Amino acid sequence: MSGFIHEARSEAKPFLFVLALVAALGGFLFGYDTGVISGALLFIKPAFHASALQQQAIIGSLLIGAMVGATASGYLAEAMSRKWTKVLSGGIYVGAALWSAFASGATELTAARFVLGLAVGTASFVAPMYIAEVAPRRIRGGLVSFNQLMIVAGILIAYIIDFLFKGVADNWRWMLGLGAIPGVALAAGMVWMPHSPRWLMERGRDEEARAVLAKVHRRSEGIEKEIADIRRIVAEEGSLRDIIGAKVRPMLIVGVALAIFQQIVGINTVIYYAPTILRFTGSSVSSAITQTVFIGLTNVVFTVVAVLLLDRFGRRVFLMVGTVGLIVSLAVLGIFFASAGVRHAVPDLALIALIVYIASFAIGLGPVFWLMISEIFPLHLRSPAMALCTVTNWGFNFLVSFTFLSLVGALGKTGTFLLYAGVGVVALIFFGTRVPETNGRSLEEIEQQLHGIRRGKASRRGAVPAAGTAFVSKLKGAIRE
Ligand code: BGC
Repeated sequence: MSGFIHEARSEAKPFLFVLALVAALGGFLFGYDTGVISGALLFIKPAFHASALQQQAIIGSLLIGAMVGATASGYLAEAMSRKWTKVLSGGIYVGAALWSAFASGATELTAARFVLGLAVGTASFVAPMYIAEVAPRRIRGGLVSFNQLMIVAGILIAYIIDFLFKGVADNWRWMLGLGAIPGVALAAGMVWMPHSPRWLMERGRDEEARAVLAKVHRRSEGIEKEIADIRRIVAEEGSLRDIIGAKVRPMLIVGVALAIFQQIVGINTVIYYAPTILRFTGSSVSSAITQTVFIGLTNVVFTVVAVLLLDRFGRRVFLMVGTVGLIVSLAVLGIFFASAGVRHAVPDLALIALIVYIASFAIGLGPVFWLMISEIFPLHLRSPAMALCTVTNWGFNFLVSFTFLSLVGALGKTGTFLLYAGVGVVALIFFGTRVPETNGRSLEEIEQQLHGIRRGKASRRGAVPAAGTAFVSKLKGAIRE
């Protein structure tokens, strides 16, 4: 586990961690909002006499806003820079969090949450992009996954805030309004942060880019190599139309597929409905809520594991192992609900399966999706391509969370969980055959390598190594140390 910490000490200056922390506050806002609304809704419903439709609108408007925000910020991250887009998203978040806290009716709250969604959708992809573009290659995986860590920390803090404010008057206003604090920290903190060196060099501001790299990299030879790599890539011709061209298509397919699979294995049914699922198993309301906090904690702990190990063993092995864990735990949940005998013999099996499920997501698809989409696209298309993947992710988030209860009604609990498990199998096959390893290469090397593969210059095996082979050799190295 010391790998990341050791590499971080030798590769980066302390300022890089301040930068990653401030940038990842965008992830915190994303997570806080995801986690806070389920608890807050319990109190909003009686306060506004909200119908089922109004409640769905309150939840769904944020997801729609996030799709719009992600689309717009694909343009903004280029036009006004990654840095100022992040300042803007923090500012909008603060305004919208306060607006939702003071909303006087369901419609006003729905509108405020749409605006909040604009900020969350923007922050969700500019954060990993910005961190990836500043980080030294050898610790890029861990640093970018810092954002996922902040997402899950945000979810956990939200669960805790919901729990603490349970008995307070106007509690839901506090729950929603408190999100303004990290929003202020993001907006104010980013004002002091530098621009992405990649964004600067695209505009010919090479000296400024060198200064940024010198602030965060410990090794000066690394800086010069990086400058040379970026310069070469920037010099290559390219236009926005390339995004639909054959050259970029294989990466776009990988990014969009990761975005879809990350959602359709059902992660947000667990995040949003964990207490409901646990109630299906016969838990009381209060133990379902306590167990949900435990699930949130597991999410954080295993994301820390991913942060520490992703750069050591590579992305693919975590993606594959994590997906196997998802399939097994979903199948176990399916069996649990199908068989009264199993339920009777091992009553805690559903909780165990949910914990294995969340741990598997936290080491695999959770961080790897956001990390990979920040790595696989050519510089001149990174903003629009990442925006497309992010919009797809939010769209499928919306679809899965809104169909879950109807799906349970139509297919039953067993059918629903087995369906998600089946999706997991398709995902596993796709990851095994189509997803490249990006570990240990600079963003420019990844770009050139994927480019080479498209032209048939590099062997396919070089880009999609057998996960097992890469993993075993890393493991041997780790044991030897
Ligand atoms: C996903 C979110 C999810 C969160 C939970 C993120 O990577 O994009 O949809 O709620 O992880 O851990």
